[in-house]
Amino acid sequence: MAINAHSPIGIFDSGIGGLTIASEVIRKLPEEEVIYFGDTAHMPYGDKSPALVRYYGTKIVEFLISKGCKIIVIACNTISSVIYDDVVEIFGSRVQFVNVIDPLVHGLARLEDVHRTGIIGTQGTIKTGIYERKLKELRPDMEVCSLATPLLAPMIEAGFFNNQISKAVIETYLKEDCFTDIEAMVLACTHYPLIKKDIEEYYQGTVQVYDSTDFVSNVVRDALNVKGLLNNRRSGPNKFFASDITESFDKTAKNFFGEDVHLEYANIWEL
Ligand code: DGL
Repeated sequence: MAINAHSPIGIFDSGIGGLTIASEVIRKLPEEEVIYFGDTAHMPYGDKSPALVRYYGTKIVEFLISKGCKIIVIACNTISSVIYDDVVEIFGSRVQFVNVIDPLVHGLARLEDVHRTGIIGTQGTIKTGIYERKLKELRPDMEVCSLATPLLAPMIEAGFFNNQISKAVIETYLKEDCFTDIEAMVLACTHYPLIKKDIEEYYQGTVQVYDSTDFVSNVVRDALNVKGLLNNRRSGPNKFFASDITESFDKTAKNFFGEDVHLEYANIWEL
């Protein structure tokens, strides 16, 4: 399928987390058509082996390529940390890729007043040490404390955010000793913007909280612009696919994009 400026932007995640990125992309680039895929049937990815994350992620990339996407945003830290380099090598001649890690790391590196930062993410992401490594390359002076917070993504996917349960779980994680003197907290999972308010309330303005939604849409716009692929009129409605239309996917998509949002079931493993 030939790619041109009117081709859609593909965005994917294990579940509802990537909707936080899709929402920002749609807000900043309203002329673009977005095709979203959430692998709700296999979520969470955070505790899966890299081999399984690679298998699922590659299938989703192939699905989005089959839909004619001009750029694919891997709107999941866990998948980005495992397959970004591989998919660029395998599919990079056909479609551009944006991950959610590099834009956030570059944004953080520019914060000259910040010298101590905390990072929370899934077990899969934290285990790779990718944030620490990339951040230290740009800011060797930065002290980093990373913590896997495996309960958060499934909790959010199940609809528990901005309530007493989520607050108690968040507090338990953020009480960790090494977070005591941090100046910034990095939400290294695309589900976490949905609990950003809870986290900000916990810190009461003493710590700045950052996530990928702050930076990714600019990177997408610049990547399209460089290739002359920015759209100037919307080609079709945004489409949201999931491998299981869960109550949470339906509710979160409607919260972000309105009641008439187009949701579709797609079992891409049997295609
Ligand atoms: N939203 C995904 C991320 O950014 C992970 C959630 C999961 O464990 O599936 O890492």
